[in-house]
Amino acid sequence: MLDVRIGPIELKNPVISASGCYGQALESEAFVDAHVPGALLLKTITLHPRAGNPPPRIVEVAGGILNSIGLPNKGIERWLTETFPKVRGHASKLFLNIAGERTDEWPKIAARIGATPGIDALELNISCPNVEQGGLPFARDPETVARLVRVVKNETPIPLIVKLAPESPDIGGIALAAQENGATAVSLINTIRAMAVDWRSRKPKLGYGFGGLSGPAVKPVALRLVHEVARRVKIPVIGIGGIATADDVLEFLVAGATAVQVGTAAFRDPRALATIVDDLPKLLRDAEVAHVRDLTGTLRMPGAR
Ligand code: DHB
Repeated sequence: MLDVRIGPIELKNPVISASGCYGQALESEAFVDAHVPGALLLKTITLHPRAGNPPPRIVEVAGGILNSIGLPNKGIERWLTETFPKVRGHASKLFLNIAGERTDEWPKIAARIGATPGIDALELNISCPNVEQGGLPFARDPETVARLVRVVKNETPIPLIVKLAPESPDIGGIALAAQENGATAVSLINTIRAMAVDWRSRKPKLGYGFGGLSGPAVKPVALRLVHEVARRVKIPVIGIGGIATADDVLEFLVAGATAVQVGTAAFRDPRALATIVDDLPKLLRDAEVAHVRDLTGTLRMPGAR
């Protein structure tokens, strides 16, 4: 009733943890068994170690949170040798989010990962700044994304999921560039750039100044973009953005998603992901839907829009 396919990957249910919200190892195990979600997706690992941004790194805003964490991590080498052996085999499927600061870093990470059994997919965090283009995100133009997917694909047979940025001028074009260059799926949306201000101190509330908005506030934006992208590409779309209930999951499937990721909800309820997976069968039964895949892309839009 719940199993879905993302290219060659079989997921036992369509619910995946979202990058950044479930750690870089098994930090979330105290709350959710990593075999519960269809896949456990871990926060970004980069080529070199990174210290991350100054605190405060997270602030609460109406309808969600803002974060600017700065991709702190110990780099792919140490992650693979020190962390991965402890994680391997402990999740139904394991997905790893990766990012580079310049184009040549991405294939280096991919080459180091190679065909590592136990890593079932790589998610490319193309929202991160490209230092070769003055800090503009890789996600900005289809040519950059096309090249990135090609060079990563050359180094690893592991399926690639390209995580799309909501601010890309032509998100459908970026998704197509990912598809045409060998991506297995696209996921969207990443956080929306935003800020919070403390007027008394005249300072931004985040240590970095601005950050990414996530949580229920972004869900309508995400649904609209998932719908738009799903109409443009043939590869599976993974919906992300403010999902906190099983109903939210099914809304994303109807809008065009094959699977979803749950992130910010974990900060309010660390067990949210498990509750969502538990609640799905009853919702489907009550609506007489035999299988989640029967819902994907079934949205009936008024007129030809
Ligand atoms: C980071 C924050 C995000 O919201 C995001 O989407 C990617 C990375 C970070 O600062 O680590």
